[in-house]
Amino acid sequence: MTTTALAALHRPDRYPRASAYDSAWLLDLDMGPNPLWLLEDLVGDLELRPGMRVLDLGSGKGATSVFLAREFGVEVVAADWWIPAEEAAAVFEEARVGDRVTAVRAEAHTLPFEEGSFDAVVSVDAFEYFGTADSYLPYLVRFLRPGGQLGVATPALTREVRDLGFIPAHIKDVVGWEAIAWHTAEWWRFQWAVTELVDVTSARLQEDGWRDWLLWARAGVERRPSPSGGVDQAVVEMLEADEGEYLTFALVTARKSE
Ligand SMILES: C[S@@+](CC[C@H](N)C(=O)[O-])C[C@H]1O[C@@H](n2cnc3c(N)ncnc32)[C@H](O)[C@@H]1O
Repeated sequence: MTTTALAALHRPDRYPRASAYDSAWLLDLDMGPNPLWLLEDLVGDLELRPGMRVLDLGSGKGATSVFLAREFGVEVVAADWWIPAEEAAAVFEEARVGDRVTAVRAEAHTLPFEEGSFDAVVSVDAFEYFGTADSYLPYLVRFLRPGGQLGVATPALTREVRDLGFIPAHIKDVVGWEAIAWHTAEWWRFQWAVTELVDVTSARLQEDGWRDWLLWARAGVERRPSPSGGVDQAVVEMLEADEGEYLTFALVTARKSE
């Protein structure tokens, strides 16, 4: 029997919670590498309890918000800029979490929330678009209560572009200058810790993050075949050329200082 790329996304040994979700459903909400694998790994470094109020920042089409509500019984505010709130809300209704997840169209620098109103902020594959400026963490932590948690999963390189002196060609060809925002875990640790606004509780590169990303990208090619190969095929080729040398994800967590 041939294993399809879609079937290869079912990995209960590695990701027991995420494997309970239909891979086709997840791929049809695709905006980047498997958000539920990233989130399942990330939440291992967080303490989420039922009833907590959690901001899912850059929630896209909403798969991570569904997961947070279902798996942890938390109340989620799903905030995103590119995806209309009505589109995400329809996903939450269909997934039967509409009573626990609120979709909000919001830009990450002008968040329409009260200070101290969240127990946690989680962001999967979005922080690289808005969260690398020196001023961003100080802005964002104001929305956390003292002791509140922050958890970010973001594309990473194993070495800083600044130290390499260049963006590796196979990455530059596909994502261009955006790769300068793909920082190492240690970059994030220092960037956050030096503010003394948070205690960094974990900063690590995802083990086998490159391999996970490739599995996801191959499933995307299979699900959305394109005669020219398209973006999905370009990402597969970027990852194959990389062979795990540079590309992975950083998982970074912190608590707001009391
Ligand atoms: C690669 S997608 C990932 C979406 C989702 N977290 C996932 O993993 O499927 C990046 C998301 O970041 C959001 N984003 C980018 N810039 C943003 C900004 N300035 N403010 C709020 N959201 C932003 C986009 O709207 C987009 O949905």
